[in-house]
Amino acid sequence: MTWLPPPAAAGSSPLLGDLVQQQFDPHSREANNQQLYRLLRDAMLQEQLPPGLRLPSSRQLAAELGVARNTVIHVYERLAAEGYVSAGVGQGTFVLDTRPDRLVGLEAAQPAVPSAAQAAISTRGQALVAQAGAAGRQWGAFMPGVPEVRTFPARIWMRLHNRQWRKPQPDLLTYAVGPGLPALRQQLADYLRSSRGVRCSPEQIIVTNGTHAAMQLVALLLADSGDSAWVEDPGYWGVHSVWRSAGLQTLPVAVDEQGLMVDEGARQGEPRLIYASPSHQYPLGAVMSLARRRRLLAYAHRHNSWIVEDDYDSEFRYGRPPLPSLQGLDPHGRVIYLATFSKVIYPGLRLAYMVVPEALVESFQTGLSELYRGGQYLTQAVLADFIAEGHFVAHIRRMRQLYARRRQALLGAIRQHFGDRLPIHDGAAGLHLVLGLPAGSDDLAVSEAAMAAGILTRPLSQYYRGSKAQPGLLLGYAHVDEADIARHFATLAQVIQRCCPG
Ligand SMILES: Cc1ncc(COP(=O)(O)O)c(C=O)c1O
Repeated sequence: MTWLPPPAAAGSSPLLGDLVQQQFDPHSREANNQQLYRLLRDAMLQEQLPPGLRLPSSRQLAAELGVARNTVIHVYERLAAEGYVSAGVGQGTFVLDTRPDRLVGLEAAQPAVPSAAQAAISTRGQALVAQAGAAGRQWGAFMPGVPEVRTFPARIWMRLHNRQWRKPQPDLLTYAVGPGLPALRQQLADYLRSSRGVRCSPEQIIVTNGTHAAMQLVALLLADSGDSAWVEDPGYWGVHSVWRSAGLQTLPVAVDEQGLMVDEGARQGEPRLIYASPSHQYPLGAVMSLARRRRLLAYAHRHNSWIVEDDYDSEFRYGRPPLPSLQGLDPHGRVIYLATFSKVIYPGLRLAYMVVPEALVESFQTGLSELYRGGQYLTQAVLADFIAEGHFVAHIRRMRQLYARRRQALLGAIRQHFGDRLPIHDGAAGLHLVLGLPAGSDDLAVSEAAMAAGILTRPLSQYYRGSKAQPGLLLGYAHVDEADIARHFATLAQVIQRCCPG
């Protein structure tokens, strides 16, 4: 931007009076100051008000337009702050030469449509977009994976939050300088030891902004581009997206009623990473047998692979106590344990954590702050208090009872419409179940028809990448009122009867 001295002859332009007066509408719904700012800015960008022109005094323009003088003063100040006019007390207000910048403003006013070549994304980006798995909607019967967020103890949370904000410590509001707030890591270590059989010290805990960040950190720190990784099939779409975009070759490995089929994987090739959800296989719900767990641990030890144990919703097991973690069984330190607050607090919190073997602690701490520059320490402090004061365990206990009732209501509705003709998979745990559909059904078409009828489901076939896909629907019940479950399922049952063979 160049400063042009005002031309000797330049006075305040009558043009300005006309220009603005013709267009300015004091009765418009747009606020006077916003309207005047816009008119002046556009006139300058289009050079109807050329560089060097002196604008009328604020008093004069206010009188001409019939607006308060303060309105004009604020508009001039804003234009000066944004570099459109010069500002100098008592020196008049002149239009500056903004020609090199003006394209920016014009482009913003008329967005150009980029050509296909300009908008082309990378090969890696194309693969990510083509195989994207995240759902476009997250609330409504029977969207899977969604906890009940309406019963979250908001008052307690607010009180704990207020307590932290009353005396906010500077180091809770700055960039995180470590792998998570020490107070939270201490609480988590105690909780994991007593509730999940995880063997760890607080130092081994790394707090991340969600499970995807943890999985990405694992891929970037423990594997190189082109390395192989086993992923369960069917399995969590997120691990494919994150690991493939980190350059890994994901090898789908089938699951059976005992979980990940290790021998099947061994036939595919030696992996650097192995993703498994042993407590509650996602999405089919198998609990990994003890024999399979020991086999997987022995395999990882022998082949120098890292097992990534995703313990995403193990707190919710109905009728039986939760199973201890795979990490707790591992004598060789080959397991990286992942867990999230998304299902036990609320997903929008975006906090998860990992437990890494001692030998990896330093690299992971450094990797975390280099890549993600963590923060949210104040929220972590609230969470630490929430756990320390017993609210966390109490909330989980209440939710487990609530979800157990909702699961029963959904099982009852399924039985009422289909008897036991359709298989149900869920391992009596988690926030969703999988309703199998008759062989030959197009579960994607059923899911789309259900959506048109107002019911959200996810088709099981979409979770397969290698094995022969079984048709079915993932149905989340945790966030659906018990009283509404029968009605919503009746709608879905009609869709299934209409769309499926037999
Ligand atoms: C298998 C599995 N792991 C982990 C997560 C949680 O991820 P996040 O911590 O990013 O919410 C989900 C969420 O749906 C999931 O289905």
